[in-house]
Amino acid sequence: MSDYVLALSDQEIERYQSMAQGAEARERALWVAAGAVPGARIADVGSGPGAISVRLAAMAAPGGAVWAVDRDADGLAVASALADRSGMLVHTSMGFADATELPAGTFDLVMLRHVLAHNGGREQAIVDHLATLVRPGGVVYLADVDMDATDLGGSSPAYEEMMLIACGTLGQAVLATGSSWPVLIAGLVVTGFGAGLANPSVAGAALAAVPPVNAGMASGAVNTFRQLGYAFGVAVFGTVATTGMAHSLSAAPDPRAAAHALAVGGADALSRFIPSHELHAAFANGLDAAYVVAGGLGLLAAVLVFVLSPRGHGAAQASERAKAQFGHTAGAGTLIIEEVLPANTH
Ligand SMILES: C[S@@+](CC[C@H](N)C(=O)[O-])C[C@H]1O[C@@H](n2cnc3c(N)ncnc32)[C@H](O)[C@@H]1O
Repeated sequence: MSDYVLALSDQEIERYQSMAQGAEARERALWVAAGAVPGARIADVGSGPGAISVRLAAMAAPGGAVWAVDRDADGLAVASALADRSGMLVHTSMGFADATELPAGTFDLVMLRHVLAHNGGREQAIVDHLATLVRPGGVVYLADVDMDATDLGGSSPAYEEMMLIACGTLGQAVLATGSSWPVLIAGLVVTGFGAGLANPSVAGAALAAVPPVNAGMASGAVNTFRQLGYAFGVAVFGTVATTGMAHSLSAAPDPRAAAHALAVGGADALSRFIPSHELHAAFANGLDAAYVVAGGLGLLAAVLVFVLSPRGHGAAQASERAKAQFGHTAGAGTLIIEEVLPANTH
């Protein structure tokens, strides 16, 4: 018991417990249908700290038991302690999801929860191995996160939202000498929608990309990068705007100094030397330049998110592939139940 307290905090264990409680509330009928009934032999592969294992063991009692396997000794120590505390029969052993060393063909139910998402490229090997563990007619039960669940339209997380932000920003690059504030409204509205939609998507994607115990770190990273964006954005786009103004004021004796003065509100003083319509034009051109660069970078970021995000390798796709291929590898009569959950329930 003392070992696991050092390795996993009470808060982390509590988090696993509450997720397991939610899972049981949602899926208990499926677990029973899959074979979690008194007397059952159940393997919980990738059990972590055993929050699910203990619940399955309670359903297998009397007469049944759970074999909890994980590659992480700290998680297994917690699983063992939780089982002792609750009086449930849970055997723990270290092993890999594609090489558990459990006896083949002996389990009524093999459960694998939130493990495929962490094993990109090994999904088929894992499912193949799990299929060898169940008895004829037994069940392999896969549950994992759906990395795309928080998307608009099912593509990469935050891709559409970033496109909206970029297009709204480009839509503000319409300032001319005589422009007034209403010309910015349309672009601001589009950008605002994009930013509002992007926030939960980005947070959801970050949380779905890490194990539950690292959720706080992922959320902190999102906030840190957002603050960095504000700080760098003001510096970079302020420089772009000033450079654009200097370019427009190239006829002035010192275009750079004039642009800096204009950017910090010195138009009245400058108007003694430079005609005010030139100052208006320079200010509008500078802001337009900043909007164009910001919008262009936004488009580039959206494309990078689309290309680089794990959309094609997510857990949902992994499960789908595993499901499609399972029929070729599992023994006759073996059933697979797949429950793909939204990322925010992970
Ligand atoms: C997100 S936790 C899920 C724990 C538990 N199944 C649950 O739903 O509460 C993932 C667990 O899978 C284990 N794991 C991931 N890949 C594994 C592998 N290839 N072999 C064995 N364990 C693995 C990790 O050590 C971790 O304990």
